[in-house]
Amino acid sequence: MESITNVTEYEKLAKEKLPKMVYDYYASGAEDQWTLKENREAFSRILFRPRILIDVSHIDMATNILDFNISMPIMIAPSAMQKMAHPEGELATARAAASAGTIMTLSSWSTSSVEEVNSVGPGIRFFQLYVYKDRNIVRQLVKRAEMAGFKAIALTVDTPRLGRREADIKNRFTLPPHLVLKNFEDLDLGTMDKTNDSGLASYVAGQVDRTLSWKDVKWLQTITSLPILVKGVVTAEDTRLAIEYGAAGIIVSNHGARQLDYVPATISCLEEVVREAKGRLPVFLDGGVRRGTDVFKALALGASGVFIGRPVLFSLAVDGEAGVRKVLQMLRDELELTMALSGCTSLREITRAHVITDGDRIGRSRL
Ligand code: FNR
Repeated sequence: MESITNVTEYEKLAKEKLPKMVYDYYASGAEDQWTLKENREAFSRILFRPRILIDVSHIDMATNILDFNISMPIMIAPSAMQKMAHPEGELATARAAASAGTIMTLSSWSTSSVEEVNSVGPGIRFFQLYVYKDRNIVRQLVKRAEMAGFKAIALTVDTPRLGRREADIKNRFTLPPHLVLKNFEDLDLGTMDKTNDSGLASYVAGQVDRTLSWKDVKWLQTITSLPILVKGVVTAEDTRLAIEYGAAGIIVSNHGARQLDYVPATISCLEEVVREAKGRLPVFLDGGVRRGTDVFKALALGASGVFIGRPVLFSLAVDGEAGVRKVLQMLRDELELTMALSGCTSLREITRAHVITDGDRIGRSRL
């Protein structure tokens, strides 16, 4: 795949290669897909204030996340059903993440089990949790993830019901019959019925606990000692609550624009969350990160790191493990270049003063 020069190019190639039902499931956002577009466009409205004449011959992108040292502040978001993209699915993603020295988050709805992913070898991995109505299932699953060496739980809090993804409804999306939600296979919850609309939406309605509330974040802490990242916070109010209820970190996320449409882009919500967090816990971001410049912008606005979703799926579809490796390498190289051209030699040196946002421009014009 020599001709690929940026992350976005994988999407077109993946579209050519994947069955329509699968591509649409990976690519879609909810309803009008306004937030899907905005997740990207909001990045393009943030501009740089680079500093010059700084020795940038050595650039250090290494960082520490929840006490784990990783090679760069770019990690892999949980995305479901990766064997629809490539026969090696999550195993290929896990290998690519490990070889890049970064963290992979495994979805609850993976097509490889926590144990299988662990068997690929060393690597720092987080486990994304959907809370099922049957709490025994949750207890068992969290224990299995712990036993399989996962280092944190990313608790997804924006999905009491599945967002309305119209392509999935049209395509009557369901998990292809040769695949299974591997973590749930032994519980007879590994397959999805074909329905008249989205099979996944029906599965969620049947299994996922809509009553989930803040007290369950405490409950989770009684069944695991792993740190809990709350994934799906976009407001200061919920940041305050996440801290109060013992979260170890926050992921500012709108689920890749697949849940509530017309929420702002995550990069537009980031500063509100960071201001409220006041450094008491790390804040991460996902949604629309496709360039090293996007990563730099998120760090400048206070994120401790970012996660990428769709680029992993599309590159996995096109070129398996090598594709995911290449995506991580391209983002790494782009971030390094952005740092050099902005006069930053380490992540610590990236500051709020290195970017200018819409809000800054409005503020200035009022002066
Ligand atoms: C997701 N996402 C997701 N999140 C989660 O908590 N559990 C999951 O199983 C999934 N599955 C999933 C499948 C697909 C196909 C996509 C595109 C996304 C959301 C994901 O973790 C992340 O929040 C977004 O993907 C980030 O946005 P980008 O990078 O895709 O723009």
